[in-house]
Amino acid sequence: MQEESIPRWAGREVRRLGTVDSTNRAARQWAREGAAHGAAVVAANQTAGRGRRGRTWASLPGAGLWLSIVLRPALTEAAWMHLPFAAGLAVADACQGAAGVPVDLKWPNDLVISGRKVCGMLIEREGDAAVLGIGINVRQRPEDFPEELRGKAASLQMAAGHEVDMDALESELYATLEKRVDQLQAEDEEALLEEYAGRCVTIGAQVTVQAAEDAFEGIAEGLDGTGALLVRDGMGAIRRVLAGDVSVRARTGYA
Ligand code: BTN
Repeated sequence: MQEESIPRWAGREVRRLGTVDSTNRAARQWAREGAAHGAAVVAANQTAGRGRRGRTWASLPGAGLWLSIVLRPALTEAAWMHLPFAAGLAVADACQGAAGVPVDLKWPNDLVISGRKVCGMLIEREGDAAVLGIGINVRQRPEDFPEELRGKAASLQMAAGHEVDMDALESELYATLEKRVDQLQAEDEEALLEEYAGRCVTIGAQVTVQAAEDAFEGIAEGLDGTGALLVRDGMGAIRRVLAGDVSVRARTGYA
């Protein structure tokens, strides 16, 4: 029998909700009221789940792990910039353990399996805290995704071909998050970024970048020290991509 680890801080306090508009909204409110480092909000259903860049996040009731965690790590300003990568690795580790298949990262912190998105993350600052929102598709069948997402999205169960225990996944996630945030606090960022780069399907791939001001194509060559993506464009110039949509071509089918 696998020994269950007791979290030191992640998930020590959990608010479990049936239906909420957004666990990120609820966790931000809790953070304003003084929620401790690691306090988590988990919901079976979200009526207004939020995605990155103002998008909505479809949260089929009971089909996924929809949760948000309040983080108050003791980090230097530089280390705060690497939080998305620590979070990405932590959730990838937990999902890989649960599904038993390789889980890749797509910059900055989407998780993909065989090129299909299984998880998205939304990190929002709330005063001196951050709220890490995690949406993991666990139990959906292909027909549960809207037509425009079929071929681009998947669930852990679709990829694994077996049932995935959502409670075990949640506990594992708290453990992997503690490990990765501790790694950041220990200022072991170089090793963390190196591992991230090794598991990131974006790096080394042909990409299309849809930034606020323009779109361009190029080859993603790596990350700089701040975590920005370095893309060599058609003119041979290196462009730093801080935010925006990056579609990966060739190595994965995910767009
Ligand atoms: C993205 O890929 O655009 C990020 C999606 C993040 C979705 C999760 S679900 C739990 C948490 N609550 C929200 O409203 N959003 C995040």
